[in-house]
Amino acid sequence: MRFFAAILSFLFAFFMNVRSHRISQIPRYYENDGCARIHKEYVTKNTNIFSYIDVKDCYESFPFDKEIAFQTIDTLNVLFHGFYSFLYKAREPPQKGFDYRPMDLLVQLEILKRKQYDNLFQFMDGVRKLIFELRDAHTSYTTNCFSSFVFYTNLTLYSVVTDEGVQKIKVFKDTIDPTNNNCEVTHIDGRRAIQVISEFPTFISRDLGVRFNAAIDVNYSGITFSTRIDLPGSPIMIYTLKCDNYIKVVKRSWNAIGIQSILENFNNSNTYFANICKNTTTDYKPLFDKLDEITKSHKNTYDVKSNEDVKLIYEITEFISFFKKQNFGVVKIKTEDVHLNHTLALKIIKGFKALANTGVKKVVLDLFDNFGGFVLISNFINQLLFPNNKKSSFDMDVRITEQLKPILQDLLNMTEIISSKTLKHFHSANELIGNNIITRGGVKEHYSNRFFLNDPNNYKRLISRHLITPLPWKSEDLIILTNSLCGSSCALIAEGAAEVNKVNTVAVGGFVGEPLSYASCQGGIAIDSTHIFNIICKLNLQNNTLLPKPFNFGGKLNIPSSEFYSIKNHNSLMEFTYKAADFRLFYTEQSIRDQSILWSQAVAFIGNKSKTFPK
Ligand SMILES: *[C@@H]1O[C@H](CO)[C@@H](O)[C@H](O)[C@H]1NC(C)=O
Ligand SMILES: *[C@@H]1O[C@H](CO)[C@@H](O)[C@H](O)[C@H]1NC(C)=O
Ligand SMILES: *[C@@H]1O[C@H](CO)[C@@H](O)[C@H](O)[C@H]1NC(C)=O
Ligand SMILES: *[C@@H]1O[C@H](CO)[C@@H](O)[C@H](O)[C@H]1NC(C)=O
Ligand SMILES: *[C@@H]1O[C@H](CO)[C@@H](O)[C@H](O)[C@H]1NC(C)=O
Ligand SMILES: *[C@@H]1O[C@H](CO)[C@@H](O)[C@H](O)[C@H]1NC(C)=O
Ligand SMILES: *[C@@H]1O[C@H](CO)[C@@H](O)[C@H](O)[C@H]1NC(C)=O
Ligand SMILES: *[C@@H]1O[C@H](CO)[C@@H](O)[C@H](O)[C@H]1NC(C)=O
Repeated sequence: MRFFAAILSFLFAFFMNVRSHRISQIPRYYENDGCARIHKEYVTKNTNIFSYIDVKDCYESFPFDKEIAFQTIDTLNVLFHGFYSFLYKAREPPQKGFDYRPMDLLVQLEILKRKQYDNLFQFMDGVRKLIFELRDAHTSYTTNCFSSFVFYTNLTLYSVVTDEGVQKIKVFKDTIDPTNNNCEVTHIDGRRAIQVISEFPTFISRDLGVRFNAAIDVNYSGITFSTRIDLPGSPIMIYTLKCDNYIKVVKRSWNAIGIQSILENFNNSNTYFANICKNTTTDYKPLFDKLDEITKSHKNTYDVKSNEDVKLIYEITEFISFFKKQNFGVVKIKTEDVHLNHTLALKIIKGFKALANTGVKKVVLDLFDNFGGFVLISNFINQLLFPNNKKSSFDMDVRITEQLKPILQDLLNMTEIISSKTLKHFHSANELIGNNIITRGGVKEHYSNRFFLNDPNNYKRLISRHLITPLPWKSEDLIILTNSLCGSSCALIAEGAAEVNKVNTVAVGGFVGEPLSYASCQGGIAIDSTHIFNIICKLNLQNNTLLPKPFNFGGKLNIPSSEFYSIKNHNSLMEFTYKAADFRLFYTEQSIRDQSILWSQAVAFIGNKSKTFPK
């Protein structure tokens, strides 16, 4: 069972776009058609980089179509109504610390249906933005039509707080003019830089500080303020820089980069519409690979292993690394998107043992930029660190609806889950469905009995067999260090340590003087609309009027269907519970590049009783 797939897919490997030079006939009236201009550039100049205005004209060339709009809203309506667990929870006002607009999504979708639009792009963009406003990292709507290019400006940003407590935005890497690196950015498009970045609409978290971190994360291969998939609002960005003692204005235009599989498939707006927009197969991987490629060239390239104080003890590449710095240890977990099996489990244990054998007394759990993966990995790490806990997996439930019932057994595999009450498998779907009514956002709804993920290969026993001497560290010897972008399955590791075992937490970034979450989007298990439609087809239920009809315009909705509850407070949904980090750190010009500085700063908080933001 995987979740956080939406964000995860941004992190896949690198793909180089190579094409052979080919000249084909150029449509006659291409001048007025952005899509045709893109095609012309592609074939005559052999380029895959295009101007903002060509892409904008291409996207805006399709007239508003009521039939498409109504069908899109109707399908979204049924999908949200039938499968979105948080539908009514999202109507409740946010807990203190969060920042989002509570809303009745179904009502808002109906409002969108009644508005007037200049073109189809304006409509679809409105739908996308509305769904983004849920600020739910597992929930997003993407269309093939308007996600064909990656936009970038060759300039990335970061934020520091000075010794005097003043927060500033700075240039991290400008690949066009590196002399701008580390200059302060006072204004963007004439407005205060911090303000502009705070308003950048990412959907990654309900906490504004986390969204701010995501917008200017220099290690993240996803959508940021500087690298986007959604059409930016204007063709150029104007940065006002303060470098040493002079002011400098830098103008940067957005470039749009395309991928071969899309560029080969159209030659004007008609063919773009037929082959890209109406294409109901979605394959975003090449585009995300492109995004990854672009962000790589702007990323932090400093290798922490090159620091002479840091010693690598053991590593499972692209997953987990064990370091020793001076007299303390670091366990860096990059992802949970790995399949756990016997061999891997033994390797993880080996890494922890190797770190313990160095004799370190204090350990930093580094969960930076970790966007989740498989819950099984989180449960395994929790068991390994805290073998005496009665529970190392979080309870879930699902909202039971008339749409869910006919496909429930195909959505949730009964052999993979255990009843929280009986600690046994459910005998039938009816036993899972149960009879629990919960009121949320003023609406009484039916929720299933609670369940948790089965430990299929008895990894608990494997741990006790292979880790005969338990790890030497107690909760008070550990500290969790994140940039808040520890989401989904990663958040379950952080919560397992912080909530259940009282391990202290340190979060880096956010806004000075304000608390910041140590983890984000605890959510639930994410599914996507394509998966739902496939099940409906498989079960031959296409004619069931309760169930959603596939989008007639290529697109995909991601939503969490099940939801996670806190272990300590049985009735609190983790996604909607604000939890501030105990301690805070801010980047400096050095620590944004050399992360091991943050490790040392974090380890200094171990044993400190005066938390900055007590829980
Ligand atoms: C444009 O593409 C369509 C179908 O994809 C093809 O039939 C047509 O010949 C192409 N036109 C030109 C000018 O290449
Ligand atoms: C639809 O998209 C898929 C995946 O990107 C692609 O393989 C296929 O050729 C497209 N179909 C058409 C008709 O362009
Ligand atoms: C801008 O960034 C892109 C993508 O990383 C890169 O290919 C290109 O070379 C950069 N342009 C300049 C002028 O550095
Ligand atoms: C950023 O990525 C680099 C290279 O992958 C890595 O060495 C560094 O530790 C990362 N920094 C953070 C803050 O995660
Ligand atoms: C176990 O998992 C690892 C990494 O996920 C993989 O490389 C290996 O092939 C797997 N081994 C078996 C026996 O499935
Ligand atoms: C359910 O899970 C079990 C164990 O993981 C697996 O063997 C089986 O194929 C799954 N069934 C379905 C329908 O996915
Ligand atoms: C759905 O209804 C149509 C039209 O009544 C019929 O032709 C088709 O066989 C039905 N499909 C299924 C899967 O029942
Ligand atoms: C403990 O942390 C606080 C910040 O929360 C800091 O002001 C204080 O100096 C720290 N105390 C020690 C002994 O490091």
